[in-house]
Amino acid sequence: MRIVDLGEYGADFIANPYPYYARLRESGPVHEVRLPNGEEMWLIVGHDEARAALADPRLSKSPATIGATMLDEQVIGPYLLVLDPPDHTRLRKLVVREFTARRVESLRPRIQQITDGLLDAMLPAGHGDLVDALAFPLPIIVICELLGVPAADRDAFRKWSNEIVAPTGSAAEQDAVHGLAAYLDELIEDKRCSHPTDDLLSALVRTRAEDDDRLSGAELRALAYLLLIAGHETTVNLISNGVRALLDHPGQLAALRADFGLLDGAIEEMLRYEGPVETGTARFTAAPVRIGDTVIPAGEAVLVGIAAGDHDPARYPAPDRFDINRDTHGHLAFGHGIHYCLGAPLARMEGRIAVRTLLERCPDLALDPAAGPLDWLPGLLMRGVRSLPVRW
Ligand code: HEM
Repeated sequence: MRIVDLGEYGADFIANPYPYYARLRESGPVHEVRLPNGEEMWLIVGHDEARAALADPRLSKSPATIGATMLDEQVIGPYLLVLDPPDHTRLRKLVVREFTARRVESLRPRIQQITDGLLDAMLPAGHGDLVDALAFPLPIIVICELLGVPAADRDAFRKWSNEIVAPTGSAAEQDAVHGLAAYLDELIEDKRCSHPTDDLLSALVRTRAEDDDRLSGAELRALAYLLLIAGHETTVNLISNGVRALLDHPGQLAALRADFGLLDGAIEEMLRYEGPVETGTARFTAAPVRIGDTVIPAGEAVLVGIAAGDHDPARYPAPDRFDINRDTHGHLAFGHGIHYCLGAPLARMEGRIAVRTLLERCPDLALDPAAGPLDWLPGLLMRGVRSLPVRW
């Protein structure tokens, strides 16, 4: 089978990958591809195949399966997304025990308060960048408060985290990973030594103490790392991609404004139509794996196309139409199977509060006609824009 060079599609692919995924899907659900950064791997573009692959134990999450390691894994330690059972099961259980629905629900008033404060600061200008003013700071403040990262450290944290998720060069990425690792060690040491507080990191530190060191120092650091990165880099794009979709579709926007009972469905459609994560994190084959008619050989890396699967017309009729009333059941935006997003309830709550409050306080919100073309994040992992100029 011919390797498909995604890099050949240029900037157009980064701005709007869906027609390219559609063309690939027409010739089958699984393709060998060269990524824009030159790496070669396999990409799954059909919905049913993608959903099955996300939960397929033949696709390992451990890079060691093919004799590789991730840069961040070497420095930070093993985090959930590079682990298979039984290690994954044990670690996930420890964090799930603390990341409870009650802990997330208890954040609701605070999320509303942070949103109100950000909008108070944004609104007098009459125009501005929605990413900078709301979509970025809200999830950062929330995840930092949830974990117990002091407010003064947030800026440094944002820089590291951006670099790791949308790397601009390997030296800068390495510096970011090392900087973050040292920072987290210090923070964890602080939590261990200071008076007990009720943030999540303190709770995880206590888990470690109470459970006879079942959570090692490296594991604790890796958990904090993943929660902070995942909490930083994803929800921002739910809010900005979602608001952009609404502003691009005035009929849908009017329907939502007329009935906020449609809000939960609208958020699910935002996740399906232009979700924050374009492909899942890498998976690896220990032995040949057949998916559809294609056999992926042993020792290969596989990307599950989340955005591609969620635009499969066999699952979602007219998939490129944004329709807040559609049945979005089975969308892949938060993954599927044992690695299903741990933060989904938190992300949904933030998205609902941010979008509703923004629309209520800006009855005439619109995209800024004077803005230039959108500046998309590079890479295939995250789908989002660096800024979203709006007026109200
Ligand atoms: C709209 C926002 C979000 C989206 C779209 C999203 C999406 C995802 C996806 C697709 C996965 C699975 C990746 C894979 O299997 O390769 C995942 C895993 C994960 N997410 Fe999220 N996420 C979001 C927000 C968050 C937040 C706010 C947190 C934490 C506070 C979080 C924590 C995690 C963790 C810890 C995992 C790994 C779970 C495991 O391996 O068992 N996510 N997320």
